[in-house]
Amino acid sequence: MKKLLIRSACIGTIMSLLTACGIEEHPKNVEFPDNVSVTPEPEPEVPEEFSEVTVTSLKALANFPIGVAVPESLLTDTAHQDVVIQHFSQLTSENDMKMDAMHPSETTFNFAKADALLSFAEANNLTVHGHVLVWHNQIPDWMRNFSGDTNAWVAMMENHVTTIATKYAGRLETWDVVNEAFNEDGSYRGSAAGDDSVWYTNIGESFIPKAFTAARAADPDVDLYYNDYNLIWNSDKLDGVIQMVNDMQADGVPIDGIGFQSHITVNSPDISTIKAQMQKVVDIRPKIKLKITELDVRMNNEGDAALTTFTAARAEVQKQYYFDIVEAYLDIVPEDQRGGITVWGTNDGGSWLQYFPVPTVEWPLLFNDDFTPKPSLQGFADALEAANLVSPDETETPAAFFNTDFETDLDSWGPRGDASVTLETTEAHAGNNSALVAGRTANWQGISKSVVGLFTADESYNVSAWVKLSDDASTVTPSMKLTLEINHGAGDGTTEYLEMTAPVTVTAGDWVALTGTYNHTISTVANSANLYVEASETTVDFYVDDISITLAE
Ligand code: XIL
Repeated sequence: MKKLLIRSACIGTIMSLLTACGIEEHPKNVEFPDNVSVTPEPEPEVPEEFSEVTVTSLKALANFPIGVAVPESLLTDTAHQDVVIQHFSQLTSENDMKMDAMHPSETTFNFAKADALLSFAEANNLTVHGHVLVWHNQIPDWMRNFSGDTNAWVAMMENHVTTIATKYAGRLETWDVVNEAFNEDGSYRGSAAGDDSVWYTNIGESFIPKAFTAARAADPDVDLYYNDYNLIWNSDKLDGVIQMVNDMQADGVPIDGIGFQSHITVNSPDISTIKAQMQKVVDIRPKIKLKITELDVRMNNEGDAALTTFTAARAEVQKQYYFDIVEAYLDIVPEDQRGGITVWGTNDGGSWLQYFPVPTVEWPLLFNDDFTPKPSLQGFADALEAANLVSPDETETPAAFFNTDFETDLDSWGPRGDASVTLETTEAHAGNNSALVAGRTANWQGISKSVVGLFTADESYNVSAWVKLSDDASTVTPSMKLTLEINHGAGDGTTEYLEMTAPVTVTAGDWVALTGTYNHTISTVANSANLYVEASETTVDFYVDDISITLAE
C-alpha cells in the first residue's frame, strides 16, 4: 500500500506557522517508499523501564566527526554545553550561519553569532561544519527582491560566498556550499513551474558550480559539500545530484562531498534502501565523501494520530533504527569517504520537529528534554563500538595520551596573546620540525592548545616538553614552564592555573626539558582548559617541541 507523505522541508498548508520559524513553502508532496506500515502500534498500557544507557562519550568511539546542530542558546546554557562537549566532536550552527542571519542587508554582514560559536568550538576542541552558503530558504528580503541581470545576480551571490568563506578560512572543517537545489524527480529546483529558487531563476544551474568555485578560492582547505533532504531514500533525486557532481568533476569544479540531511521517520526508509543510496555516492569517481548532516528520527508517522507518549517500547524501536543507520554507514562507506554523522539537535525538546511541519510532540534525538541520554544514544554508540574504530588503548583511557611532535603541523597549538606561532622547519628537538613562538609582548604570552576533557580526576600524568631560545646569542635567561589553565565557566567563573612542569631557567644555545608530574584533582567538566608554554621574559622568541603527556603508572 502506498502512502502519501510530505517529506519536504516545508509544507504549503501551514505557511502561517512556518513564517514564525523563518521557513517558506516547499511545494512538493512526494511519495514515500512502499514498505511503510501505516497501522499505529498499540500503546502498552504500563510503560516498562527504559533500557540502560552506559555511553560515556559518543565521539570517543569514532574516528570521524560526530556532530550536532546547535542553537545560539548553547552559548549561555551550561547543561547543554556539558553534553555537547562530552559526546560530540563537531558543531553545526542550526540557523546562525544561514544567508539571512549572516547578510541582513546588501552592505552589512553579521558575523557576531558565528564568531561566538566558533570561539566556543575552538575552546572546546570541536570542529565546525559550516551551514550554509547558498540556499533558497532563510534568505534575507533584500536578496529575494534583488533586481539585476544575470551578471549582477552572480556577483551578488559570489560576494556572499567569498566574504563569508574568506572570513572563516582555515577554521572550518566543511561547508555546505549549496543546499536543496534539486526537486524530488531529479530536476533542478526552479526549473519547473511552481518551484522556488531565486538562484536558479536568476542565474540558472550554473549558480551551483559558481558557488563551489568561489568557496574554494576563498578557503583552499575546507571540504565543500552539496547538501539535500530525501537523498537517503529517493533515488531519482540522488541520481540528479550525482549527475551534477559528475559534471562538476568533469569541468574541474571542486566538490568534496554530498550531505544526506536524513530527516527521517522511525523504520522508514528501510535499511536496504539507505544502503543502496549510500553505495551510489561511494561509487562516484573521483571519490567524494558522504556525510549524514542532519539526522533526526521522527516517531510520528505523518498522517497518523499524534503520539502522546514516548514509551520504553518505542524507545527500543528507535534505538535499533539508530543502530541500523550507523551500522549501514559504517558497512557501506569506506573510511576515507566518511565525512561524519551529525544529529540535528541535542535534546528532543530543542528539536525543530516540535514545531515542524506542525506543532507536535516529538522524540527524534539522542537526549531527553533534560539532557539525560536516551536508548537511541546507546544504539548509535553500539554500532560505533561494534566497528572497533578506535584502538582499545584509546577507548579505555580516552584522553590519557597526548603527544605533539610538530612534524606535520601545529596540531591545533596556537598563539596565546599577541604571540605568533608558526611551524619551524630549520630547528627541532627531534625529527625535523618544531613550533616557533615569536612576537610576544608579555610574560604570559606563548603557545597554547585547548584540552577540555583530556584529564581524568584522580589520575597522575607524566608531562614533558622541550624548549629552546630562537636566538643562540641571546643573553636573557627566562624561566619557562608548561601550565594548565582551567576555567569553570559561568557558574563561579573561577580560573585555575596549574603548573604542569616546574619552572626551569633556559639559557641560549640548547634544547631544555620541561618535566613534571601532574595530579588531576578536578572532577567537573571544565568550561575551557588550555595547556600553554610561557616565558618570564617579555619578548624572547622560542621554539617548542615534543610535548607529551602520559598516564603515570
Ligand atoms: C531548520 C532549523 O532547525 C530551524 O530552527 C529553522 O526554523 C528552520 O530550519 N534542512 C536544513 C536546515 O538544511 O537548515 C533546516 O533547519 C532543516 C531542514
